[in-house]
Order: sequence, then structure tokens, then C-alpha cells
Amino acid sequence: MKKRIIIANWKMQLSFKEAKFLAKEILIKIKKKEKEKKKLKDFDIVLCPPFMSIAEVAKIFTTKENSKRNILSCGAQDCFWEEKGGFTGEISPLVLKELGCKYVILGHSERRQFLGETNEMIHKKVRTVVNLGLIPIICVGETREERDRGLKEHTILTQVSKALEGINLKIYQKIIIAYEPVWVIGSGQAIDSQEAEYMAKIILQRTIDIYPLPIVHNNIRIVYGGSINSTTVRSFINQETIDGVLVGSASLKAEEFIKMCELMPL
Ligand code: 13P
Repeated sequence: MKKRIIIANWKMQLSFKEAKFLAKEILIKIKKKEKEKKKLKDFDIVLCPPFMSIAEVAKIFTTKENSKRNILSCGAQDCFWEEKGGFTGEISPLVLKELGCKYVILGHSERRQFLGETNEMIHKKVRTVVNLGLIPIICVGETREERDRGLKEHTILTQVSKALEGINLKIYQKIIIAYEPVWVIGSGQAIDSQEAEYMAKIILQRTIDIYPLPIVHNNIRIVYGGSINSTTVRSFINQETIDGVLVGSASLKAEEFIKMCELMPL
């Protein structure tokens, strides 16, 4: 069984102070659960704050006491495909690592849609991030139009293949692929968990085409994202191929987020 994961994508929804406050609130609630002996099960929790708050949030998790806890980590919502250089306004993955980030979301549909990110750009980012030992969370998903035209499988397979083309994974290099149907993001209505499982299986099969089986089993996790909350999380996480969830709006309230964490099975 692969280790489960719950990833919070806070997008650009929080101010600097709010992000810091929410991270602390989540940590306090986790500590409280531990005191009540309701220790959260063994899975990964990743918080991806807006860039400007990353240093603060990462600092909270990397204190001597909290780093022992080991289940909480910090992620970024994007980065550039070079480590450094004349790239005005861009974010260096090397600096993200220096700040304590372990994960980087790449190719989120909002970046594909509003910032013109292409499969080629995402591929270059994945390569750099993997080489640095960070874990990319590669987002793939079809639009409503692609789905209506019967192209969802084609879109997903193209996005996965292009992101991973020619990238060999060493034993210590891990990746996460997030299936996020674009048309349900922020809609409040997740897709049927059976359909998500079907798509996760398609993604899994493509990774088996590309990588040796031990790498697929040990280094690659597949998660679902799109209008997940505490009432729906269980039905997704109980699917055989879905190893976790990527959560937007429902991760912005500490109470609701912890409720989701408590519902994660072993
Ligand atoms: P929602 O959970 O708000 O639909 O957002 C999902 C998402 O885009 C996470 O990356």
C-alpha cells in the first residue's frame, strides 16, 4: 500500500498573515489530536501556501520539535524550469528547496488556462524539480469541452506522457500525478469517485508503460482533485488506485481540513 497524501492548495486566496495563521492553526489542531491520543494516521500532509508566505510556513514546520512530527510539509504552487539566471520575476526551485519546500505543484489548470503554460514548459519544470530531489505534483485534467467531445482519456494520456517524456526516475526520486478535471475545480461538485478511479487507472497504466514496475509502485502516487471536502474525501481515498487528494477551497478552513485528515484511512 502506498503512503496516502492530502495536499492543500491555497492558491492566491490568503494574505501573508492569513496563511501564517492558518498553518499555525492546523499545527495546533494536530498537536491537540496527538494529546487526545487521536494520533493522525501515517500519511503525508502538504500545505502549499502562496509564494510570499512559503518561508514563514516552512519555518513553522521545520522547527526542531515540529520536524520530528514528519507528516507535515510545505509545497509551492509552481516554479521556473531553471535553478537560477536572468529570468525576471520567476521563482527558483533551488530557493524553494533552500526554504524547506519538499513538493511543487506543476501544470495546474489555472496556470495552463490563465498563464499560457504548455505541456513543454511543464515537462521542463518537472525535469528540474525531479533532479533537485523535490517532488513534483503534476496536474492533468480535461476541460468540459474535451470531455463532451469524448477526448478526456486522450487529453490525460497526452499530458502525462509529455510531462514525463525522457525523465528517468532514480530510486530516490518521487513524483505525484494529480488528476483534476478542469470543469469541476471550484464548482462545489466533485465527479463520481468511480470515474476518478477509472481515470487514475488510465494514468497508472501510462506510468507502467514508461517506468519499471518497482518504480511505479514505490515512487509514483496518483491523487484526485476537484471540489473535495470532508463529505466526499472518503469515497475517493477508498478507491484502489487513488493515493490521496488535492484540495482547494476546503483546505482554507483549519477545522474542515483537519476533519478531512481524520477521515484518511491507513
Ligand atoms: P477546489 O477543491 O476548490 O475545487 O480546487 C481544487 C484545486 O484546484 C486544487 O488544486
